[in-house]
Amino acid sequence: MTDESTLIQPPQEVLDQANVQDWKALLERADADPVAFWEGEAAELEWSHPWDKVLDDSGAPFYKWFTGARTNIVSNAIDRHLTTARRNKLALIWVGEDTSKVRTFSYFSLNREVEQMANILLSMGVQKGDVVTIYLPRIPEIYFAMLAAAKIGAVHSVVFAGYSSEALNARIDDSESKVVITVDGSWINGSVFPMKKIVDDAVRFSPTVENVIVVRNTGSEVSMDPTRDHWYHELARLPIAQGHCETVQVDAEDPLFILYTSGSTGKPKAAVHVHGGYQVHLSSTMKNCLDIHEADRWWCTADPGWITGTSYVIYAPLIRGATAFMAEGSPVYPYPDVWWQLVEHYGINGMFTAPTAIRTLMRFGDAWVTKHDISTLRILVSAGEPLNPEAWRWFHDVVGQGRCSVIDNWWQTETGAMQVTSLPTMPKKPGSAGRPIPGQAVAVLDEQGNEVPAGSDGFLVLKNPWPSMLRTLFKEPQRYVETYWSKYPGVYLTGDSARIDEDGYVWIIGRTDDVIKVSGHRIGTAEVEAAVTSHPAVAECAAIGLPHEVKGNAIHVLVVLNTGYQGSNELAAEIRQHVSQTLSPIAKPDVIEFVDKLPKTRSGKIMRRVLRARALGQDEGDLSTLEND
Ligand code: PRX
Repeated sequence: MTDESTLIQPPQEVLDQANVQDWKALLERADADPVAFWEGEAAELEWSHPWDKVLDDSGAPFYKWFTGARTNIVSNAIDRHLTTARRNKLALIWVGEDTSKVRTFSYFSLNREVEQMANILLSMGVQKGDVVTIYLPRIPEIYFAMLAAAKIGAVHSVVFAGYSSEALNARIDDSESKVVITVDGSWINGSVFPMKKIVDDAVRFSPTVENVIVVRNTGSEVSMDPTRDHWYHELARLPIAQGHCETVQVDAEDPLFILYTSGSTGKPKAAVHVHGGYQVHLSSTMKNCLDIHEADRWWCTADPGWITGTSYVIYAPLIRGATAFMAEGSPVYPYPDVWWQLVEHYGINGMFTAPTAIRTLMRFGDAWVTKHDISTLRILVSAGEPLNPEAWRWFHDVVGQGRCSVIDNWWQTETGAMQVTSLPTMPKKPGSAGRPIPGQAVAVLDEQGNEVPAGSDGFLVLKNPWPSMLRTLFKEPQRYVETYWSKYPGVYLTGDSARIDEDGYVWIIGRTDDVIKVSGHRIGTAEVEAAVTSHPAVAECAAIGLPHEVKGNAIHVLVVLNTGYQGSNELAAEIRQHVSQTLSPIAKPDVIEFVDKLPKTRSGKIMRRVLRARALGQDEGDLSTLEND
């Protein structure tokens, strides 16, 4: 346990360059008038028509920002750079899993690629507001696809490249996509993962899909349906793909993307994010909270199929005119120093990753890091799950060599961008996510909605609306109100428990709902349970998250078998594999435990809380609602 009073002062190298020197003054100014603060941040960006109002809260909790304004995030991420000297600077450096494969794009050439993809989407009849599903690995085409959809006013739905055909199918059908953009396959530790085959299985029963665009990536054999599938490189040669494509100016509140995420029920929900406020929040946090300058090379290792990737891989670095770096491979393939080799070779200045990756690399020992000259690093960022003090210190001392600012930051798919963070020049407390960002205020409440005393646990809420907030849940406005705005009036319920210490630092404890964070990935217990029960041997089951040294949490599933089946190691392995195939390898349970019955309330709800307490050897708490034998 860290001593919560331990404060680590910012290194001189960080202070020397920081955009925000006086972090207290910034917080005071923003907190005094958050709306005026956000208006000032928005004024740094381009809008083709100004706003009438910064924040319209008349329909709360359906908040609107920058009403009346017209813009497009692509105007800010690409177009505005083309009229400056930035047009010839590198927008993107990409390195394959085979690190000898390198592709680079200036802002000028990135624009050409995006125009080409946008022309192709238009030729397929994609219109403003249509959803385009993108199922791509970390290759440059994922930038082209997302930016192209945005450019023409379409809405992108990126599905993480590790999801199964069932999960992909559910997301395509729900969003009624007419076009899917994918690849032949992706590289995973030297082997090909057959993404096109997964798309084939997913779209077989999708009535809406008319066209599948296939990027050649691994060169592996795939089957192509001549009426539906098109090689991207062949489309790119056609006249329809050529020439300028105008960036459509949209209303600031028009949707930019939907991103499916896990909640308390089996059906994933999709957060809706819009062009206007989202770009303002990204621009502001990249400048003030992450201290990324135009001259910096920025590497966020997340996958764009998760919100961290959408926000801080794709859009944020481009909006700030920096150089984005993307690597296709994993941190440990072929060796556990591949990341540091890339940092050294490409002179990366800011790096954003997840605690699981930090803990994984830490276990390989310091020598893999210290044999490389990674002195260009200045900013080290972590999000997605708590960064435990030991991993924090390793990141700070070994990777950062004491010269970098370690920035833990807390947020969610729903919030679009960071909400609690340690500003670069702010003294740090290892293990704490920091303080609310400029313009935000948080509180920790008890069951009745009273603020708990400093240092006590409770439900974390956000008190102010913010520009990058989700506007609703796709097709489910009622669920939006119920999930986030009903427990306590007027504040946003995060679903996390936390405490705030006497200095105002926020310490995240974990989820309070049926969501498990495994290696930073957000997985619903209901999704895992649905996958497990679809195995013929299983009658019913309950999934819980238990602490894991590297992954943060591991999935344990307690299974009641159908009559005629016997629990065995083989059956457990088969069920684990079944989840991997029908949901995703990231959701594969660590442990399957066979039990005779599950503890339930009298109304039949499984009491996961009791199962967790039993597994951890803790007090089972109030059992008055437990059904009798
Ligand atoms: O439980 C919190 C955890 O991740 C959840 C949100 O997951 P997702 O929608 O995938 O968005 C991730 C964006 C970074 C939160 O409800 N979480 C996120 N960041 C942190 C965190 N837990 C502790 N510390 C963090 N820095």
